Amino acid sequence: MSKLWGGRFTKGTNKLVEEYTASIGFDKALAEEDVQGSLAHVTMLGKCGILPQEDVETIKQGLQKVLEKVRAGEVEFSVSDEDIHMNIEKHLIQEIGPVGGKLHTGRSRNDQVATDMHLYLRNRVVELTDLLHGLQEALITQAKDNVETILPGYTHLQRAQPILFAHHLLAYVSMFRRDAERLTDSYKRINVLPLGAGALAGTTFPIDRHFVAEQLGFDGVYENSLDAVSDRDFIVEFLANASLIMTHLSRLSEELVLWSSTEFSFVELDDAFCTGSSIMPQKKNPDVPELVRGKTGRVYGNLIGLLTVLKSLPLAYNKDMQEDKEGMFDTVATLTGALQLFAPMIATMKVNKGRMREAVNTDFSNATDIADFLVGKGLPFRQAHEVIGKTVLYCINEGKFLLDLTLDEFKQFSPLFDENIYAVLQPEAVVNARNVYGGTATVQVQAAIGRAEDSLLEAKKWVTELAAKL
Ligand code: ARG
Repeated sequence: MSKLWGGRFTKGTNKLVEEYTASIGFDKALAEEDVQGSLAHVTMLGKCGILPQEDVETIKQGLQKVLEKVRAGEVEFSVSDEDIHMNIEKHLIQEIGPVGGKLHTGRSRNDQVATDMHLYLRNRVVELTDLLHGLQEALITQAKDNVETILPGYTHLQRAQPILFAHHLLAYVSMFRRDAERLTDSYKRINVLPLGAGALAGTTFPIDRHFVAEQLGFDGVYENSLDAVSDRDFIVEFLANASLIMTHLSRLSEELVLWSSTEFSFVELDDAFCTGSSIMPQKKNPDVPELVRGKTGRVYGNLIGLLTVLKSLPLAYNKDMQEDKEGMFDTVATLTGALQLFAPMIATMKVNKGRMREAVNTDFSNATDIADFLVGKGLPFRQAHEVIGKTVLYCINEGKFLLDLTLDEFKQFSPLFDENIYAVLQPEAVVNARNVYGGTATVQVQAAIGRAEDSLLEAKKWVTELAAKL
């Protein structure tokens, strides 16, 4: 059989052109969605009296057969049939004869490909949201084990104030919660049906777009046929959401890499999540977080790539738009891989509570609290800051920490000091003094864990509901 669009041509396609323009090499990943869309389309053609019911049945059976063969790996896709849509149609015609050629009535590859991608992405968004929930769960579980673990909190990567490790982990829970919410919210823009837009202007056949939407579980149909075939916003939005998730994963990765260095030794990643060196026998490398950090670049690249493809494209469909797929597939694979690894890696991570505590005991991260102590005695904060700056400098020169100073030494810097200062400077006291909503005090962190669990439970309902429908 020659090309499905061969009628107008007097020559065969240049081989290199064929290879260059074909998308089957990657859009074969849309085979399931393509058949799913076709089944709904042909059912509608029957219901609307556009095709006789017996043809509809033959086509549906043929499509099922083709899908089974695709699943069994028995279908050989061909570059000369360009893309998944024409490959499947070709196989359908081979399977059931010329009646298969009726499937494409009232439809174009332009609305077909858009439909396939909407179907594809909505499923992936549900799966990725589920994975984000799993990661939040792992972080919350670690947080619960570490409501008493104190470590230095950093700004500028310099020790700043002590915090609970649980509090640090919950910061990531908040980030991933927002990420999951963004994916969930994007679903309503993905779950819209383009089919029925035809090539660009609609179709002359009396089709029922809402019936197709209903069959495929779409919440609505595109308002405008030009927009339906030209819109790739939903993919851009997905790539942007994915980029932000990778940003968060990359920040966490960077901390894991730092924390598992000998210099920090705050955590140890499980052996199952690390790799060794071919030359240095002592090495245990945090390859997973390193690679996630590295792969963040390609996800950003995919976003910028698609934005650039779309920029300046006239309406409606242009072949440029075929470039929307590889970046989307690559992003789904990259993000899925990262999230699948992160949850168990966090769950099995060993937290070196002793090392974290040792770090807090040997730093000046309680300095703000003596300043606050003097403020409590009536000294203006700016002056208190100056006094403590001098006290810290004295400690550095003497090789001491604040808790090593005698009361007499403290009094050299301000007569306002009294013996209560020693209790104030204990790391627990420093942490618990930050008893504001969202702060690091133990009671606040415990309450935050409760809220995180509640909101996760609520968010999971959305996934369960949709997973049951899809
Ligand atoms: N393979 C094409 C794509 O991915 C499908 C749509 C082709 N439409 C067309 N008019 N050539 O964009």
